[in-house]
Amino acid sequence: MDFNLSEEQLMIQQAARDFAVAELLPGVIERDEHSKFPTEQVKKMAELGFLGMMVDPKYGGSGLDSVSYVLAMTELSKIDASAAVVMSVNNSLVCAGLEKYCNEEQKMKYLVPLAKGEVIGAFCLSEPEAGSDATSQKTTAIDKGDHYLLNGTKNWITNGGTASTYIVIAQTDVEKGHKGINAFIVEKGWAGFAVGPKEKKMGIRGSDTHSLMFTDVKVPKENRIGEDGFGFNFAMAVLNGGRIGIASQALGIATGAYELALKYAQERVAFKKPIFQHQAIAFKLADMATQIMAAKMLVLKAATEKDAGLDISQSGAMAKLFASETAMNTTIEAVQIHGGNGYVSEYHVERMMRDAKITQIYEGTSEIQRIVISRTLVK
Ligand code: CAA
Ligand code: FAD
Repeated sequence: MDFNLSEEQLMIQQAARDFAVAELLPGVIERDEHSKFPTEQVKKMAELGFLGMMVDPKYGGSGLDSVSYVLAMTELSKIDASAAVVMSVNNSLVCAGLEKYCNEEQKMKYLVPLAKGEVIGAFCLSEPEAGSDATSQKTTAIDKGDHYLLNGTKNWITNGGTASTYIVIAQTDVEKGHKGINAFIVEKGWAGFAVGPKEKKMGIRGSDTHSLMFTDVKVPKENRIGEDGFGFNFAMAVLNGGRIGIASQALGIATGAYELALKYAQERVAFKKPIFQHQAIAFKLADMATQIMAAKMLVLKAATEKDAGLDISQSGAMAKLFASETAMNTTIEAVQIHGGNGYVSEYHVERMMRDAKITQIYEGTSEIQRIVISRTLVK
């Protein structure tokens, strides 16, 4: 597989790097401290075309490939994983799902403003009793002729408060198991739709995570995505691509922490020499660099396979599993290399360590990735 980047891909990577340094770095510590959503920064991301990167320009997107997308995601995540997850959800869960599976009318109405970044989207699968076990949906959407009546609660929804357009997965026929699940486009402001309080989180504090409550929300029939009973397969297919986005987020967090640790290790002197010259520290950095390189290869492989139209259930899960474990290991060691300074906010690595943890949990925990991968081994 050829991982040489094209001129265009290198340009996107550089543009994302410049944006992250100029616009995300200033204020990243304060946004984390006050759990502040990066409103202004997200507006600028929209102007750069980062919120609908892979969407066809005829629907308001940038028309780029998945490799460009993971490169941009990685650059943003090196500095601000919270801003990056807003981008990831909007691109690889919401826009990608709408572009691939919606009809023309739905695309014109919902995809265009999302791809342009005029509004933000959210993807609502998880529930209080259905996280990993995603087929155990308790939210119901009962067919009432010209509309469905939606009732239930969704948990931990990224962009939950800031979004205007929500993809909501719900059970329409319990008897049919996962074939009785559907996906719907729901708008904020519809009667009976309430957004719960913002969650207080360990990491990615700049992103807003909320529960959502639906009480007799009338969802027009035309807002169902695909054929009746397609909702669970839709969610799984979309998540395959989403996992590449989170893998690149994890890769970015790991790379950001590694770069800071490498610099610090060359500057900090202990026992009359830079700590990098103590083999214990140099070996940590060697391990970090090796794991990051392997994670990068897996992320690029998955993105390249996606661009080639191949089944990415295995490569996406492998990339997410390995990159998220790398993000966790690397950030822990980056804090260690920084010593006491690693434990305070101004050196960034403690935030990165807290941010890294979520990449092992959302869009399928590491245990779920192993289930997905192991099932592909015997297919
Ligand atoms: N790709 C495509 N289809 C898949 C799939 C995949 N990776 N995994 C499962 N499916 C399909 C199966 O083929 C099957 O379809 P058919 O019956 O049509 O053949 C259907 O889904 C059911 O599959 P299983 O019988 O394997 O279902 P299961 O109950 O054993 O569980 C699971 C499957 C993989 C564990 C699934 O429940 C899962 O992925 N859970 C994790 C949920 C998750 O990732 N949630 C993330 C929420 S979004 C989020 O987190 C966003 C964010 O933070 C930013
Ligand atoms: P559980 O499923 O209860 O799992 C608990 C533990 O048991 C985990 O370690 C898990 O790996 C393990 N486990 C469960 N089943 C098995 C098994 N079969 N074999 C081995 N181990 C198992 N969801 C959305 O739909 N949309 C979002 O935008 C979104 N954003 C999120 C943002 C944040 C900050 C957080 C924290 C979560 C978000 N989620 C979102 C939810 C997330 O996807 C779930 O938390 C995740 O899928 C795990 O589900 P759970 O929390 O119910 O854990």
